[in-house]
Amino acid sequence: MTHSEPLLSVRGVTIQYKTPQHLITATYRVDFDVHQGDRFILLGPSGCGKSTLQKAVGGYITPCEGEIRLKGQKVKEPGPDRMMVFQEFDQLLPWKTVKQNVAFALQTAKRLSRAEAEERAMHYVCKVGLEKFANSHPHMLSGGMKQRVAIARGMAMEPDILLMDEPFAALDALTRRRMQDELLALWEETHFTVLFVTHSIAEAIKIGNRILLLSPHPGRVKAEINSTTDPIEAARLEKRIHEMLFVNEPDEEEAEHA
Ligand SMILES: Nc1ncnc2c1ncn2[C@@H]1O[C@H](COP(=O)(O)OP(=O)(O)OP(=O)(O)O)[C@@H](O)[C@H]1O
Ligand SMILES: [Mg+2]
Repeated sequence: MTHSEPLLSVRGVTIQYKTPQHLITATYRVDFDVHQGDRFILLGPSGCGKSTLQKAVGGYITPCEGEIRLKGQKVKEPGPDRMMVFQEFDQLLPWKTVKQNVAFALQTAKRLSRAEAEERAMHYVCKVGLEKFANSHPHMLSGGMKQRVAIARGMAMEPDILLMDEPFAALDALTRRRMQDELLALWEETHFTVLFVTHSIAEAIKIGNRILLLSPHPGRVKAEINSTTDPIEAARLEKRIHEMLFVNEPDEEEAEHA
């Protein structure tokens, strides 16, 4: 793969939901590229289609128009090359320990032996700072700790891309900030590729290197923006994104050229 070829390409993707009464266009002709090592953010208000796009990349929803390619291959179904981490704390198997939760998919999807799977699982359990809880069950853990297990499980599969849908949204502010810092520290180590959904502008700027702004009804791309690590620039960017998303809402044209 040459450097200029994106890892993930989303081209003209329209996704609709059919309900008995309505046909809902959740996203309309969305385009974006995610490159190797990107921390790519889907940002926008509720209903703009962030989760829908994320699920389509995961292979759980098929677009009715356009296409999604991972390493040049059209995405048709879910696969271990795309691991998802959700917002909910109950995404772990309650009857399995932390280590077993992480090792499980390594045995089933990656076909590692039990010993190999447990060894790799422990490596990632340690990475997220849960070595002392490796043999605990999920009900013994706080919400933040459960999210760490879900992240360790996703990373242990060593997917081409990690898909995270508001993974920290249900955490208290302090834990949330700590988890954001941890995620960035993990990224510094391995430079994994992540597609991260959030509706928090501050979180998008902190976590992402690139940010796709979406507007709702139907979900469309409003802008694609580079993030910044400079605190003064970040404050300016936060204000600018806020204005683009909310202030000029009634007048689409004006918002687009802000
Ligand atoms: N299963 C479904 N059936 C019908 N409509 C749906 C379904 N899932 C989502 N939608 C609709 O599609 C649109 C996009 O929803 P989606 O969940 O992708 O938004 P979102 O940006 O993730 O919002 P939030 O920030 O609230 O999570 C919304 O109008 C929503 O009502
Ligand atoms: Mg959502």
